[in-house]
Amino acid sequence: MQDGRGDGEKFRLCYNLTRGVPVMVALGGENRWGGQEAEPFLKAILESVEEGIHAVDLRGITVFYNQAAARLEGVEQDEILGQDLLQVFPSLSRETSTLLRVLDTGQPIVDQQQTYTNFRGKQITTINTTLPIHSGGRLIGAVEVSKDITHIKRLAERVNDLEARLRDAAGGRSRVPPTRYQLSDLKGESRAIAEVRRFILRAAEHEAPVFVSGETGTGKEIVAQSIHQASQRREGPFIAQNCAALPATLLDSILFGTVKGSFTGSEARPGLFELADGGTLFLDEITSMQLDLQAKLLRGLEEGRIRRLGATRERSVHVRVIAATNLTPEEALGRALLREDLFYRLNVLSIRLPPLRERREDITLLVEHFAREFERKGGHRLPTISPEVFHKFSLYPWPGNVRELKHTLEGALSLMDGDLLEVGHLPERIRNYAPGVDEYRESGSTSLVGHPSPITPGGTREPIREAIRKLEGEFLREALAESGGNLSEAARRLGLPRQTLQYRLRKAGLK
Ligand SMILES: Nc1ncnc2c1ncn2[C@@H]1O[C@H](COP(=O)(O)OP(=O)(O)OP(=O)(O)O)[C@@H](O)[C@H]1O
Ligand SMILES: [Mg+2]
Repeated sequence: MQDGRGDGEKFRLCYNLTRGVPVMVALGGENRWGGQEAEPFLKAILESVEEGIHAVDLRGITVFYNQAAARLEGVEQDEILGQDLLQVFPSLSRETSTLLRVLDTGQPIVDQQQTYTNFRGKQITTINTTLPIHSGGRLIGAVEVSKDITHIKRLAERVNDLEARLRDAAGGRSRVPPTRYQLSDLKGESRAIAEVRRFILRAAEHEAPVFVSGETGTGKEIVAQSIHQASQRREGPFIAQNCAALPATLLDSILFGTVKGSFTGSEARPGLFELADGGTLFLDEITSMQLDLQAKLLRGLEEGRIRRLGATRERSVHVRVIAATNLTPEEALGRALLREDLFYRLNVLSIRLPPLRERREDITLLVEHFAREFERKGGHRLPTISPEVFHKFSLYPWPGNVRELKHTLEGALSLMDGDLLEVGHLPERIRNYAPGVDEYRESGSTSLVGHPSPITPGGTREPIREAIRKLEGEFLREALAESGGNLSEAARRLGLPRQTLQYRLRKAGLK
């Protein structure tokens, strides 16, 4: 957020908070936001972000240096601002400084991990992105954004060290980790869940990688752990890594391990692949893994061999990989978040866990299961649940799936005075949920109320089906009345194709 006052150029460095990278926005003579001078705002924004930001002009003189950058380096802002980079950082040279390299080449350097000792003698690890700054088609400077990952790196490495120590303590054999879940923890009586159970047993008999997809809260973790527990590998380790939790470079070294000195400050350390040898490695949120790392993973899967970062020799590992994502394979491939070749390799054994709204017949059983679980854990006595509660549950679309149901129940039980759980104990979003047109549009469902396979506790399903049909009838009638009987207008208001509306009207006996 400097403007190139020196040479009369105007540009603006903005910070893209969602992607975590800075972007250059040309001012084009416009230097005002909502009629106000933009610079104080920009300055405040750039000072408030967690990342260190350091910008230099063409001569390598620092023109912007925020608090976070000063904290990282262990210096004062004033010591750096307006100074020649090479003079204030004497350990750097024209070749080793990423800012100067970008000035020389005009090419960005993205996501580079660096471990070094700062001015206060503290060893820090950062991930840096360095970008050229252009104005009017001319290079005028460079900016570096540094994210401090010292802490997260240390934590991730400590986990690896602990795994390794446990393994050594077990006489070099793999330890037996207590996985939290097994097959019997997967509750449900729907056909979809029966299918998932069959899949788990089949997958447990094979060695091929597994691909599990399903919306959040549908039980991917349960499935992954159950496969491990039901397989020959149950005596071996089960190691889970969420690929979204670590920056790409760190994920690489944590998965594959490092040799001493492979980059500054690196120690000899086994990666999760080695630690999971003889067991299962669960790679959660695989679509957050960078594509080049996915390629490396694929090679590892195909060859059964991995190489630590900086090592020359390969090691063979016998690891069963289970990968999970909450996207559909189509989304993951379509948005280029998953390499096709890796997908085909993983897809040998793949399953999509159905969202709860597509298997509402499981709700009663899940509610009973969770209520019992809470009772066992010393929570509430088993409640009586009013039929209206189940009715609300049968309409609500459960975007958070089983996890949301579990938490909803837990919350509702804690609000209860006596033993009867009623609609009043439910959160507003469920209590007041009205199946609407938006949902229809999103789900592409053939019914205005989503996927009704409603449940009543121990009762018949028909009364609710009937109620829903009536509700839908009323809804359509209302829309028609509001549109003065004009079909096209009513269809537009409902967000339905005209033919679909005609069909629904006929079905509701309204035409
Ligand atoms: N079929 C099921 N039976 C019993 N509990 C379930 C079932 N499915 C999910 N749960 C419970 O719901 C919660 C979420 O499950 P899990 O962590 O496996 O979901 P997930 O698919 O991995 O979600 P996310 O994508 O958010 O990580 C857990 O508490 C789990 O015990
Ligand atoms: Mg999960």
